[in-house]
Amino acid sequence: MAKILVLDRSEELAEQIRSFAEELPNDPEVVSCTKIGSIDHVQEHDGPFSVLVAGPSLGTRAGLRRLAAIHREQPGTAIVVAFQNEPDASLREIVQVGAVDMVDYPVDDLSLRAALKRALEMSLRIGAVTVYEPIYQPAEAVPQTRNARVFTVCSATGGCGKTFYATNLAMFLAQNSSARVALVDLDLQFGEITTSLRLQPSYTIADVLSHEDEDVDLTTHIEDYLVQYEDKFWALPAPKEPSQADRITPTEVTKILDVLRTHYDYLVVDTPTALAETVLAAFDLSEHLFVMATLDLPSVRNLGLFLQTLQKLRISSDNVSLIMNKVEKDVGIDVEQITKLFPQGFRSTLPYAKEVSRSVNLGKPILAAQPEADIAKRIASGLTEFLPPDARRRLEESPAASGIKIGSLSRLFKRRLVQITESAR
Ligand SMILES: Nc1ncnc2c1ncn2[C@@H]1O[C@H](COP(=O)(O)OP(=O)(O)O)[C@@H](O)[C@H]1O
Ligand SMILES: [Mg+2]
Repeated sequence: MAKILVLDRSEELAEQIRSFAEELPNDPEVVSCTKIGSIDHVQEHDGPFSVLVAGPSLGTRAGLRRLAAIHREQPGTAIVVAFQNEPDASLREIVQVGAVDMVDYPVDDLSLRAALKRALEMSLRIGAVTVYEPIYQPAEAVPQTRNARVFTVCSATGGCGKTFYATNLAMFLAQNSSARVALVDLDLQFGEITTSLRLQPSYTIADVLSHEDEDVDLTTHIEDYLVQYEDKFWALPAPKEPSQADRITPTEVTKILDVLRTHYDYLVVDTPTALAETVLAAFDLSEHLFVMATLDLPSVRNLGLFLQTLQKLRISSDNVSLIMNKVEKDVGIDVEQITKLFPQGFRSTLPYAKEVSRSVNLGKPILAAQPEADIAKRIASGLTEFLPPDARRRLEESPAASGIKIGSLSRLFKRRLVQITESAR
């Protein structure tokens, strides 16, 4: 006899199914489990089930994790999800639990009966040991494994604007492409990504590691530890307590970044000022480093030392871009002179701008808060080449869409650079 298991905190869905169960193929028995924690017991005691109907209370990340575990253990049970219109989970996550069908809850008898009939027929026809491939596919096929490009933002001196630049780099990539972008805060002691974006994370990088000891598969759950910034990109926050930072080893950083790479298209890594081992671990995985400096002698001197260190680490200068930030006039130092000291030149020269403080106080990257500001356009024009090829072409073909005019901007950029240089004299 076929059995349907209804998993939800309320009995309602089970009762609805019971009301028409005898019209379903093989007159299945409907078993209800309202204590989600005791599912294992119910399966052992009353299983196996041909169909599992997951009600709206499973439409959370934790609920989906549980469903995915059930699917792994009982691949022969066809899962039908009945979630509220906007479950606290993406379509992709729902697909990953192996659901064979999905209905919007509340659902009318007719649609629910049709979904259950199909699920039962599949289960009866194919037998209880088959692994179902989900028939419910998102419009855009999601590749299972990604291989993110990793960009790390670093500097030799503090307060150069690493966090500012890293959040804007993540924003730029997310705004101008459909890529999945994750921003990772490796400033483990004093990370500021969550405050600068006003995020309220449930978890931090420290939690990823504390769960590692348990028998949890990091690859399956890593996304749960990230918090989303609007609908743009995701962030993995630094630990809440500085004291938790010491416990995170370079090997663990490598492991986390490696796992994240398989889930996102870009990782943007923000770092502390020190060249810590954990930062070197990020360098090892990075395709490109953005090294920041400001227009003052200590910063410029340390930039030189920093670049020498990168050479010793055998990081090719082709994979390093210099960013001069907080450029002001009348500070007794000249961008042109500095440029002579660094023959590779600066990818972007960013002015000191009060819009930056304004955007930080708003909790938004400047590319979101004031994309029309000069500094925002300068950041964007320096980053176009890091977009995926199609997104880059789109931007170059219709630059108006993003407010960037490549040709005129570079002319403007040159002119401004000359102005800054001259006024700094
Ligand atoms: N171009 C800029 N103009 C004005 N203020 C800036 C600029 N870049 C960064 N800041 C400010 O300088 C401070 C330090 O920047 P932050 O990104 O936190 O540096 P870091 O992460 O390198 O320590 C922040 O208050 C930030 O808002
Ligand atoms: Mg910082």
